[in-house]
Parts: sequence; C-alpha cells; structure tokens
Amino acid sequence: MSAPTTVVSLKIDGKDVSGRADETILDVASENKIHIPTLCFLEGLSGWGACRLCLVEIKGSHKLLSACVTKVAEGMEVTTDSPRLLKYRRMVVQLLFAERNHVCSVCVSNGHCELQNLAQVLGITHIDIPYRYPTLPFDASHDLFRLDHNRCVLCTRCVRVCDEIEGAHTLDVMGRGIDCRVIIDLNEPWGSSQTCTTCGKCVRVCPTGALTRKGTGVAEMEKDDQFLPYLTRMRGSQS
Ligand code: SF4
Ligand code: SF4
Ligand code: FES
Repeated sequence: MSAPTTVVSLKIDGKDVSGRADETILDVASENKIHIPTLCFLEGLSGWGACRLCLVEIKGSHKLLSACVTKVAEGMEVTTDSPRLLKYRRMVVQLLFAERNHVCSVCVSNGHCELQNLAQVLGITHIDIPYRYPTLPFDASHDLFRLDHNRCVLCTRCVRVCDEIEGAHTLDVMGRGIDCRVIIDLNEPWGSSQTCTTCGKCVRVCPTGALTRKGTGVAEMEKDDQFLPYLTRMRGSQS
C-alpha cells in the first residue's frame, strides 16, 4: 500500500490554500487560479527553473524563489505579485531581448511568441539594456524544420520534450553563459541527424520563433503544446 499523501496548508497572496507536499508553488497557484508568469515551465515536462520569470516572495526569506521548482510547505506565505517582483520580471525579459537578435517584425512567430506576450503583459515598451547583437547561426538543413539561434531563449523545453516525451535525445545544450547553445546530437547539422525522428514535438513547444516548421507563414505559426499534459497523463495511467 502506498504512503498517504501529506497535505499542507499555506497562503498565496493572502488566500488560504492547500496542496500536496510534493506539489510546487506554481502547481498550487494554478489550481487556485492565481497566475504566475512563466517561460521555461511547460505542463507535462520536468521543472527546470532556468528563466526566473516565476520568481515569488516567501515570507521570512530574503531570497526570491522560482515557483515552478519550489515545493509548497506547511505555513508558507507566498506573494506572487509585488513592485519588487515586477521589477525583476521586467529585468529578466529585457535581458532576454538584449542577449540575442529578437527582431519581432521579421520573425515568423510574430504575434504567437511567448517572449513577446510577456513583454506586453509586463508593460515593457523599450529595452534599457544595451543589445549585444551576437552573430549566431541558423540551421535550415532539416527537410521540415529550422533552428534559428537568434531567437532562442534557452528555455530547454525542446531538449526536455525530445528526451522525456519522444525519447530521442537529439537535442541538448552546449557551452556556458553567453556561449550556451542548443545543439543537435554532437553539434551537427539537423539534416544529418541519425537520431531525430522528425516528430516535430520540439517545434510545437518552443515559445519563440527559434524552432519553426518550414513553409509556414506568420499567421500560421501558432504553437500547440496541449498534447503534452494529455500524453503525460496517459503514460502515468499505464505505469
Ligand atoms: S523533431 Fe522530435 S526527435 Fe527530432 S529533435 Fe525535435 S523532438 Fe527531437
Ligand atoms: S530552441 Fe526554442 S524551445 Fe529550444 S531552448 Fe531555444 S527557445 Fe527554448
Ligand atoms: S518558469 Fe519557473 S524558472 Fe522558468
């Protein structure tokens, strides 16, 4: 017989809520219709905690914590919305825009981009940080898909879906800091990959225009990641 699940009580934005001890703050907030901005998180994939958009304040802690990877605890008091959090979230989004070449007006995902949406929701009208304008490659060697490093925000959703859901592990991350890149196999052209099954899952979960399907126009480039929670549930019910 499996051990009973511990239920904990906590407050989120002053509201009394409860959740299982193995849930994250983001899980419990979502269950209670409390919105926390996210970017690297995607339901159905493991938590990564990379982008820091979901930072929240915890009473008694001077550190801001990522809601998508921090477990709830008994008596916790969480604040998801404050001037301090808004300041940091705006900074995170501005740094992402400044780090690579996100020229929305010539991007196929213009209008369907989560980075662009976040900027709008957070009221970012200009970037205070100097742009880096790095020279980055563009891989169009695959028959169906393209990888444009200029638009990549290194959320690793593509890497996780390829590994955890498709099981191919074609994608990975190489390098550190500003030299960090998504790679195909051992940093080879996508078109020559022996491991890629051409399933297209990575393209469907990419939040920006970094991964796109060839032959799609701007208005058609809507991402569809709703298959993920379904697949995860079905696999869970079979184990
Ligand atoms: S198309 Fe499928 S197998 Fe190929 S890199 Fe993307 S997720 Fe992995
Ligand atoms: S290619 Fe897309 S999904 Fe992959 S890390 Fe970059 S932004 Fe994220
Ligand atoms: S969504 Fe939590 S760190 Fe990215």
